[in-house]
Amino acid sequence: MKESDSIFESRLSRVYDELKWLYMELYSNDTHSFDYFIGMLKRQFDARSDELKEWDDARTIVEEWYRGNDIVGMMLYTDCFAGTLKGVQSHIDYIKECGVNYVHLMPLLKTTPGKSDGGYAVADFGTVDERLGTMEDLSDLSAACHRNGIATCLDFVMNHTSEDHEWAVKAKQGDPEAQARYFFYDNWDIPNQFEKDVPQVFPTTAPGNFSWCPEAGKVVMTTFYPYQWDLNYANPMVFNDMTEAMLNLCNHGIDIIRLDAVPYIWKQLGTNCRNLPQVHTIVRMMRLVTEVVCPGTLLLGEVVMEPDKVVPYFGTPDKPECHMLYNVTTMASTWHTVATKDVRLLEHQLDTIFSIPKDFTFLNYLRCHDDIGWGLDYDYLKQFGVEQVAHKKFLNDFLTGKWLGSPSRGELYNDDPRLGDARLCGTTASLCGIEAAEYEQDDLKLDWTIRRDIMLHAFLLTQSGIPVLYSGDEIGQLNDYSYHEDPYKWDDSRYLHRGAFSWDDAAKRHDPTTRPGRIFTSLQKLLTIRRTHDVFEFQADTWIVPTGSDHILGIGRYFKGEKLIALFNFGDDDGVAWVNDDEEFTDLFTGEKINGKEVPVRCHDFHWLLHTYEPAAPVKKEEPELPTEKKEPQVPAKKKEPQVPAKKKEPELPAEKKEPAKDEQPAKEKAPKRKSSKSTAAKSAAGRDSAKKAPDSTTKTKKNATSSKSKSTARNSSARNSGAKKRANSKSTVASKKGSSK
Ligand code: GLC
Repeated sequence: MKESDSIFESRLSRVYDELKWLYMELYSNDTHSFDYFIGMLKRQFDARSDELKEWDDARTIVEEWYRGNDIVGMMLYTDCFAGTLKGVQSHIDYIKECGVNYVHLMPLLKTTPGKSDGGYAVADFGTVDERLGTMEDLSDLSAACHRNGIATCLDFVMNHTSEDHEWAVKAKQGDPEAQARYFFYDNWDIPNQFEKDVPQVFPTTAPGNFSWCPEAGKVVMTTFYPYQWDLNYANPMVFNDMTEAMLNLCNHGIDIIRLDAVPYIWKQLGTNCRNLPQVHTIVRMMRLVTEVVCPGTLLLGEVVMEPDKVVPYFGTPDKPECHMLYNVTTMASTWHTVATKDVRLLEHQLDTIFSIPKDFTFLNYLRCHDDIGWGLDYDYLKQFGVEQVAHKKFLNDFLTGKWLGSPSRGELYNDDPRLGDARLCGTTASLCGIEAAEYEQDDLKLDWTIRRDIMLHAFLLTQSGIPVLYSGDEIGQLNDYSYHEDPYKWDDSRYLHRGAFSWDDAAKRHDPTTRPGRIFTSLQKLLTIRRTHDVFEFQADTWIVPTGSDHILGIGRYFKGEKLIALFNFGDDDGVAWVNDDEEFTDLFTGEKINGKEVPVRCHDFHWLLHTYEPAAPVKKEEPELPTEKKEPQVPAKKKEPQVPAKKKEPELPAEKKEPAKDEQPAKEKAPKRKSSKSTAAKSAAGRDSAKKAPDSTTKTKKNATSSKSKSTARNSSARNSGAKKRANSKSTVASKKGSSK
């Protein structure tokens, strides 16, 4: 047996029983499909380049490589940032200068202009959009990122395909096998039953969850836009082929797979079609699959739901699912706090996050490519007399600048008058008020709005987990209103914050008299502080510090002799935080020495106060213990035991446990075409000065001894080695839906 075969076999044998069990349970003992699935895994394993396999090895030894306080992400659209993938590659120096070592390349696969949902309607999972480059460019870019110590992340849009995907095209032509990959109905009876329980994602821009497909003369499920057809994961061929598509992306050097809209992937009549148990089975299988084929890969779940729906996607300690999840409620609660200037909801929300096991990694962010949905804890807010519909209206009024005195400049998204619901768009800088201040040429206003922007970033970086910047935020980029003129974009206000990156502004980033310079240099300073202090490590204890003010948020962190008291004044007035900690602190940002009893905090400003405890002197044996004058370090009150998510039910044994016949393909299924991943990977590998030996820092002994040192060495050594039309379209679909439902 070849060495690589034995590696595959040994990894597979570790997960085989569970994988088979889950698969058989989900797919009613379909052994043919399962055998095909296993064969596909082996093909993808064989196609993985030696260099990526070395990367896998380094990362499996230092499992927590992605959790360090030095990891910083940035999400960017290839076209907005630099035109093409090659363009992005030519700006790696800038990405590095931003302190970023994880870059999320927004959807870049083949899509249809005007029917793309920002790239989230994929027409071919194995081809890069020709306007952006080729699969080879993608491999080259990820290899170049790796050489520079940067991990790459890509969306895996698994819930749906574009209606121009080859399966959808065949389905339109009436091919039953292709139609079985989606949800097709002869009439509106079943769709109408679904509609009773399934909420709408785009109630204004794409109402309803189904669309009429005139070519097929049938109704098709379209949870998102009418041109995004939901895949039917109850069909094992869909799961097999989609998993293969995901692994192919990993084999092009993608390190982090963002499981787009994952809660939606399983549909069942009579339910809301969100977060069904089968979704977890599929995610768990995907995790197992990556552990076999590409164990260096991380899964990032896009679960934009309330906290109790999000956390289960981490899985359990013995059956993990996603490695990372978005901290969406904290993000939304942050903007609530900007508008209300009342930190109590944020304190409550952070308390929930602080009680989750520390090794559950959250991805923290202020803004992303999507809207801000007001998924707040209204049960908690009820005690203050807050009512959902009125509150959402207030938040939207404030953040769009309609509220008297508000400097924010956002726009509404999917305003649904039926439910009194609307979401919100805008860049961080414009929502902070910088745009209005510049427009009004009001220097004083500019000062405090920039201060607020920096304070929010400091708050972001205070949280445990991975901070991810939205490209452009590092230079305070403002809203882009040009989408109003573009017929492909004008009915989707998310394009407000998806403008082209301003390289002119970026050129001013070192000039402290400019907006980009003020924000960029402050952010860099914050990031440097964060990566040089242990207290920002994920293992730190975290707690809410009462401040005696509803406008000032206090967060405590303690780790390895460092105590941080972080204070954020969300209010419009200068205030005092009654921290009542009579110790001397140093503000890490300004260098100021401050006593922790009562701390003045300017409006829209923050403090990162650090107190370091000297290590206790070693106790000499045999000598009498001398009384020491040193005060005992004030270690934060012991936290509640973290609530471990309820253990998942053990899957029931499939009724019949037939042994699969290993060498046969499923009768119905044609072997999908192999992508050129092998040759592409080989080509890109050939261009590298890779040292084939495994990084010497990645030995198990060292891991235990100097975990954080070996962690960063592993990272670095891995790096070394290695509109009108649209409007018409949605209108006509709506029209046809209505027409045919009659
Ligand atoms: C995710 C994406 C969003 C997209 C949707 C449909 O939520 O973040 O931009 O519209 O999926 O794919």
